[in-house]
Amino acid sequence: MNDQHRLDGRVAVITGAAGGLGSGIARHLAQLGAHLVLLEPRVESLQPLCRELREGGAQVQELACDVTDEASVARAAQAVAEQHAGRCDILVNNAGILVPASPLEALTLADWNRSMAVNLTGVFLCTREFGRAMLKQASGSIVNIGSIGAQSPNTSPPYSVTKAGVLALTRHTAVEWGPMGVRTNSVSPGFLRTPLSEVHYANPDMLQLRTQVIPLRRLGTVDDIAAVVGFLASDAAGFINGEDIVADGGFLHTTLMHVHKHADQYGGTHQADLSPFARLNQQKT
Ligand SMILES: NC(=O)c1ccc[n+]([C@@H]2O[C@H](COP(=O)([O-])OP(=O)(O)OC[C@H]3O[C@@H](n4cnc5c(N)ncnc54)[C@H](O)[C@@H]3O)[C@@H](O)[C@H]2O)c1
Repeated sequence: MNDQHRLDGRVAVITGAAGGLGSGIARHLAQLGAHLVLLEPRVESLQPLCRELREGGAQVQELACDVTDEASVARAAQAVAEQHAGRCDILVNNAGILVPASPLEALTLADWNRSMAVNLTGVFLCTREFGRAMLKQASGSIVNIGSIGAQSPNTSPPYSVTKAGVLALTRHTAVEWGPMGVRTNSVSPGFLRTPLSEVHYANPDMLQLRTQVIPLRRLGTVDDIAAVVGFLASDAAGFINGEDIVADGGFLHTTLMHVHKHADQYGGTHQADLSPFARLNQQKT
C-alpha cells in the first residue's frame, strides 16, 4: 500500500465507536496503524471491541463520552490530551441516531431535539473540543459521517435535516480551519445494514426493494464506508477539504428513473414484476 494511505502512530478519535459503522471504522483505522481513542456514552459497551483490537496489536484508549454533553466531551478531550501528549490527529464524528419514522405533523419536539443534539450539536462539540489540539499542532483531519439523507428526505424528518447540517458544518470547518492546517470532509453512506437501520429490514421485502434500486445491486457494507473514512483521514487525501464523498452504489443518481415504468430503467433486470414501484403500487391496492 502507498505509504500516504498509512496512519501509523496517528491519534484517531472515533465517536459512537461501539456501533455498526463505528466499530468497522475502528478496525480499519487500526489496520492502517492509528492509535485509537474510542468514545461511547456507556464505556462498557466498548469492551469486546477493545479486547479484539488489542489482541490484534492495536493501541486503544476507551472513554465514556456523550457527544451531546459539553462537559463530557471536554473531559474526553482532556483525557486524550493527557494520554497522547496533547496530540489529536484524526476525529471521526460518527455517533448518530435515527428517531422513529413519523409524519412531520406528528413529530414530537423531543425526537426533533434529540436528533439535533446527537447528530448535529454532537459534531459541533467534538469538532470544537478535539479540534483545539489540531489547531495547536497545525495539522489534523476531521471526517464527519453524513448520510444520503442530507440530499433527499427520508421517513424520519429530523434525520435528513441534521445530516444536511453536518454537511454545512463540514464546509464551514474546512474553510475556517483549512488555513490552520486542519482538513475537514464528510462521507455520506447510502443504505447499510447496522443496528441503526435494522428497523427498515423488519419487512423482508425491503432488502430486495432497496437492492433493486441501487445501480450496484447491493447494500453498502461497513467496510465500504470505513475505506473512504481511512482515505479522507490520510495524507493521500491531502488536498481534499470541505468535500462530501457519497458512497451509495449510485443510488442518489437514480432520481429520474423513478418516473419510468420498467425495472430495466434501473439498468439490467428485465422482469417488470420486480420493479420496486410496481411492487409498492401493488401493496397500496
Ligand atoms: N446505518 C445506515 O444505514 C447509515 C446510513 C447513513 C449514515 N449512517 C450514519 O452512520 C453513523 C453510525 O451509525 P450506525 O449505522 O453505525 O448506527 P449504530 O446505531 O450501530 O451506532 C451508532 C452509535 O452511536 C452511539 N451514540 C448514540 N448516541 C450517542 C451520544 N449521545 N454520544 C456518543 N455516542 C452516541 C451509539 O451508542 C452507537 O454505538 C451515524 O452517524 C449514522 O447516521 C448510517
